[in-house]
Amino acid sequence: MSKVYVCRNWFPDVLKRLSRLHETKVWMGESNPPRDVLLREAQDVEGLLSLGSDVIDSEIINVAPKLRMISNYAVGYDNIDIAAATARGIPVGYTPYVLTETTADLAFALLLTSARRIVEGDAFVRQGKWTTAIHLDLPGVDVNNATLGIVGLGRIGMQMAKRAKAFNMRVLYYDITRREEIESLLGVEYVSNLHELLSVSDFISIHANFSEQTRHMVSAAEFAVMKPTAILINTSRGPIVDQKALYQALKSRQILRAALDVTEVEPIPLDDPLLTLDNLIIVPHIGSLVPSVRRQMMSMAVENLISGLRGDKILYCANPSVYGNG
Ligand code: DGY
Repeated sequence: MSKVYVCRNWFPDVLKRLSRLHETKVWMGESNPPRDVLLREAQDVEGLLSLGSDVIDSEIINVAPKLRMISNYAVGYDNIDIAAATARGIPVGYTPYVLTETTADLAFALLLTSARRIVEGDAFVRQGKWTTAIHLDLPGVDVNNATLGIVGLGRIGMQMAKRAKAFNMRVLYYDITRREEIESLLGVEYVSNLHELLSVSDFISIHANFSEQTRHMVSAAEFAVMKPTAILINTSRGPIVDQKALYQALKSRQILRAALDVTEVEPIPLDDPLLTLDNLIIVPHIGSLVPSVRRQMMSMAVENLISGLRGDKILYCANPSVYGNG
């Protein structure tokens, strides 16, 4: 039996599998465990189950001399200092596949919602503005036959492409690696230059992983090349888009609209200038928020943790180099 700490009491029936095998302590608060709690709890544990919103940096890893497995309940793992974990030989688990289509659904929903002004339309009705005189009050943008530029053609980006093709969209993609083998299968075209992709797309959807290389990948220079009619969707990670530059681009109508599931700071502070804009939709990081999907993510995170603590090579590992070449 190893001591493990779990950062949220989500799906307690799934967590039971862990507590049957290991001495399991679960943070019972509704939000993240506070930093001092995490620093204290980490000192004694061999396993940690964190959420994407828990910051597991080198300080946490360094105060935990017995730590030998971190399992992240998220497909992204930018909340974890992977280099610090790897230096200690600690495998970091994550939860891919189960949320791919669900997250692409949300990205496409944001695209449609923004194009057809669903949020404003609902407010319009509730404010009593719906009269038989309305004619061009909420002009939308056609999605069918428009061009979608996908930034990052990974699992979720590919599912976004499939959805777009069903709407007869032309789909372009930019990625550091060209995926020639799937281009004809998905009906997508590669653009080797990000600015070129941005300049010809009616809709731009970000599906890149976050790292120091992709921080502010979309900033003032990128907004400058976008069409004035462009709509930007981000469901990946907030810091990929420079939020100050986004504010300027939306405020000055350099681009038409944006829809975000992620922001640079989450939750976004209520005094953030972005919240004053009428051409922006923000939802609270709900890309994978379908209970059956979240349950599968928890099962995967628990299985990763159990197998890592058993000393097995875990199936979904963010830093496979901890296992050497074998
Ligand atoms: C993830 O799994 O990384 C998602 O962002 C969580 O919704």
